Amino acid sequence: MQDNVSLLYTEDRIAARVRALSHEIAADLPSDFLMVVVLKGAFVFAADLIRELHELNIHPEVGFITLSSYGSGTTSSGIVRVIGTLPDNIAGRRVLLVDDILDTRRTLAHARDLLLKEGAAEVRLCVLLDKPSRQEVTVTADYVGFTIDDVFVVGYGIDFAEAYRGLPYIGIVQQEDTAEPAPSTERADER
Ligand code: XMP
Repeated sequence: MQDNVSLLYTEDRIAARVRALSHEIAADLPSDFLMVVVLKGAFVFAADLIRELHELNIHPEVGFITLSSYGSGTTSSGIVRVIGTLPDNIAGRRVLLVDDILDTRRTLAHARDLLLKEGAAEVRLCVLLDKPSRQEVTVTADYVGFTIDDVFVVGYGIDFAEAYRGLPYIGIVQQEDTAEPAPSTERADER
C-alpha cells in the first residue's frame, strides 16, 4: 500500500464489479459494437472489461480517443478538445464510450456529442466511477462501476500528476502538506 493513499476498492472488488458490468453490457449490445476508450485514465478498466466481454462471446472493435481539458487553478474551464484523430469507422455504429470517471461530466458530454456528429447510431456511456455530486451538465452513464463521494481517487489506470496509474486497487490520495484529499477539479492538460 502506498503511504499517502488510502484504500477505496480492492482488486477483488473491482474485478467482481467489472465482471458484472460486462454481463450488463452483453445483455444490451450486439457482439460487434465499437468500444471507444478515453485515454489515458480508462486504459486499465477497458483492458479488463474487454477480456470479460470475450468470456461472454462478445467481441467489440476497439478505438481510442484522447481528450484535453484546460483550466486555471483548481477549476476546469470545461473546454474540451480532441488530441489527434477520432476512430475512422464511427458512422452507423453502436458505440460504447468508456471512461474512468464521470466528474463535472463535461468531458464525456463533449465526446458523446462528437461521436454522434460523426454519425454513430447510438452512444452508450460506461464509466468505472461516478461522482454525481460534481455534476455540471446533465449526463447519465448507462453503466457505472461505483458511485463515489467527492474524493480524489487514483489507481487502476487513474493518475495524480501521472503517478499511481499502476496501482492495482483504487485509493484516495492525500495531499502530503495538508493530509486533505487532493482537489478533484485540478487535472493535467492531457488526461
Ligand atoms: P469531467 O469532464 O467529468 O472529467 O469533469 C472527468 C475527468 O476528470 C478527471 N478526474 C479525476 N482524475 N482523480 C483523477 O485522477 C479524480 O478523482 C478525478 N476526478 C476527475 C479524470 O480524468 C476524468 O476522466
